[in-house]
Amino acid sequence: MTLAEKVGQTHQGANLDPVADHELIRSGGIGSSVMASGATAGNQRDTGVRASSVDAAQRIAVEQSRLGIPLLFGRDVIHGHRTVFPIPLGLAAAWDEDLVYRTARVAAAEASLDGVTWTFAPMLDISEEPRWGRMAESLGEAPVLASRLGAAMVRGFQGDSPDGSDNGVGTPDAGAPDAGTPDAGTLGVGRVAACAKHFVGYVLVRGGRDYATVQVGENTLRNAHMRPFRAAVQAGCSTVMAAFTDVDGVPMHAHRRLLREVLKDEWGFEGVVVADWDGVGQLVNQGVAADLRDAAAQAIAAGVDIDMVSGAYSAHLVELVESGQVPLDLVDDAARRIIRLKLRLGLFEHPYARTPAAIPARALAREAAASSFVLLTNRHTHGHNDRVGTLPLAASPGRVLLTGPFVDGGEALLGTWSLDGRAEDVASPASAMRDRLAQDAIVDDGRFSDRTMHLVREADITIALVGEHPSRSGEANSVADIGLPAGQLEVLRAMAAIGKPLVVVVFAGRPLDLGEVLDLADAVLIAWHPGVEAGPALIETLLGDRSPRGRLPMTFPRSVGHLPSSSLARPTGRPIDAADDQDAGRYLDALVVPRLPFGSGLTYTTFSYGPLRLSAHQMPRNGGSIEVSVDVTNSGQRPGREVVQLYLRDVVADVTRPLLELSDWVSLELDPGATGTATFTITPGQLSYYDRTMTLRTDPGAAVVTVGPDAGSGATAQITVTG
Ligand code: NOJ
Repeated sequence: MTLAEKVGQTHQGANLDPVADHELIRSGGIGSSVMASGATAGNQRDTGVRASSVDAAQRIAVEQSRLGIPLLFGRDVIHGHRTVFPIPLGLAAAWDEDLVYRTARVAAAEASLDGVTWTFAPMLDISEEPRWGRMAESLGEAPVLASRLGAAMVRGFQGDSPDGSDNGVGTPDAGAPDAGTPDAGTLGVGRVAACAKHFVGYVLVRGGRDYATVQVGENTLRNAHMRPFRAAVQAGCSTVMAAFTDVDGVPMHAHRRLLREVLKDEWGFEGVVVADWDGVGQLVNQGVAADLRDAAAQAIAAGVDIDMVSGAYSAHLVELVESGQVPLDLVDDAARRIIRLKLRLGLFEHPYARTPAAIPARALAREAAASSFVLLTNRHTHGHNDRVGTLPLAASPGRVLLTGPFVDGGEALLGTWSLDGRAEDVASPASAMRDRLAQDAIVDDGRFSDRTMHLVREADITIALVGEHPSRSGEANSVADIGLPAGQLEVLRAMAAIGKPLVVVVFAGRPLDLGEVLDLADAVLIAWHPGVEAGPALIETLLGDRSPRGRLPMTFPRSVGHLPSSSLARPTGRPIDAADDQDAGRYLDALVVPRLPFGSGLTYTTFSYGPLRLSAHQMPRNGGSIEVSVDVTNSGQRPGREVVQLYLRDVVADVTRPLLELSDWVSLELDPGATGTATFTITPGQLSYYDRTMTLRTDPGAAVVTVGPDAGSGATAQITVTG
């Protein structure tokens, strides 16, 4: 390869056009394309990706360029392609790796049929900041939850089996011997390269303002924010995207220490590091590069292999190498990584999009949507005393009013980053309700008005669908107020004042301050943005055909003034005594504990926990383990799912360690009266952390084990790590 051809591989353009970009492609001046409408593509619906135009551009690269190296076509396939699943935060609420794997598998299948070979997902930013609009894309606040779900997503996209036994990307051949996944044959589809993003710390933007600066130390990054990336790399993730932000003054696109020394050298990541949109060029705006040439030199030295759209590499890398300012080795390494990815994807053998085949995905979309719902409150109302609460509705519930802005929602139910989803594909709550309740369904027109209050009076029960439109979440859509959008709370107050049962369903891309809503409604269900099967999944859940199964993947704070409020707190020199009202009010004007703890969620039955049983209380640091188990009984009247959660705390460590850190979870499906056992195996590795010298270690000494239904409750036991 000539130097220019190597540099060509590192250049990524946007929406390559077979006519306008013919000469660029033919000359080998470009290696990949991001198919997006612009810098914040997640907020716009574009015309969709077309296999015919992808193939036309690919044909030029393969048949007319000197080396015939195929192009990569990247697209943000974040939570489904044509079949849109719940937003990632909703998927995370299902606490179900297999579900995440299957949705990614279908997304990859559909996307690859349209010519997509690379998706920019999963987003693995540990989310502690509800003001930041990109919460919607994240897999929750807990490193272990995001790590396991993120790895499952990587395997789903890349076609590896859920247990990770095949970590290669493989070829896109349906049913090929190396397909490595049982459903590859049945789906008859391809796979796409995954991209763990945004490396690293983006979520820590000051004030939750998108693209703002980040102040965080390497120890916090390693012990929390970098963990899901490590898990993704271990799951074979092909690419990693650099974050737009700086980390303590050093922009990530120039962060040699974290990109090259940690990600590539220490972790042994052999894949491709891609810039975010114009991230190399933005080094100039960030004030660390004088111009694009300087930016290119810094980014390639830091370890950014592909320059997404800024043009800095394409314009300057050849000259920078020829003048001796950038070592040729750096360009060789980047080009080698990119071509290796293309080889592993099988692009040289199969450069073109496949013939579309029917992919049965709606049932999975409904399962995923229903699994994402979290029941936050469910109180008794008169006439419903025989059940746990207002929900599920009685078999003959009387006249049910469905009202609020999401009643007919098409696009509004898809969520941010649903580029290839279509509003007309969405099964709306209104139609699902009418199908189910016929004459008993009263469906409002989607606007709250005086007429709405009249309908509330007429109905026996009201279901109000409130919350944020996806355009209030996603990239560049931060908010300073995490309450319901303007006017909705006032309407809910008026509805509650009428005195009839009120169920509130909240659609949202982030945790909201729901304080008063939780007080005034008889039941509150958070439904995130559920995707194409929103309506049936919701109505089936409200009517009890399905039970809510989800658990909050993020803490719901008391107010915006409490942020950050999460389960990731570390001990201070003056611990808070939650039992002491004065102390728990670490704010003069508010309690400090969250409104709803991480991991919480109700269902249509109740569970009781037996005592904790430990196989031992001492665990040798080398090779030891302890089994912790607890019996859980379904003490209610309906079958249900309980998510039993294990939290650990290292009591004395070299650095401050979380007071409570999710370490594992077990899902139990129990019939009424049945007892199941949740068993966890604790190993020293689960207590390991990076110390003051950034060395991974496990301390001898005491650790606290907590097992319970959420981060706010549970039974504890002490263990000792020995040796
Ligand atoms: C910018 C976003 O930050 C990133 O997540 C996305 O993948 C790229 N644009 C490409 O659309």
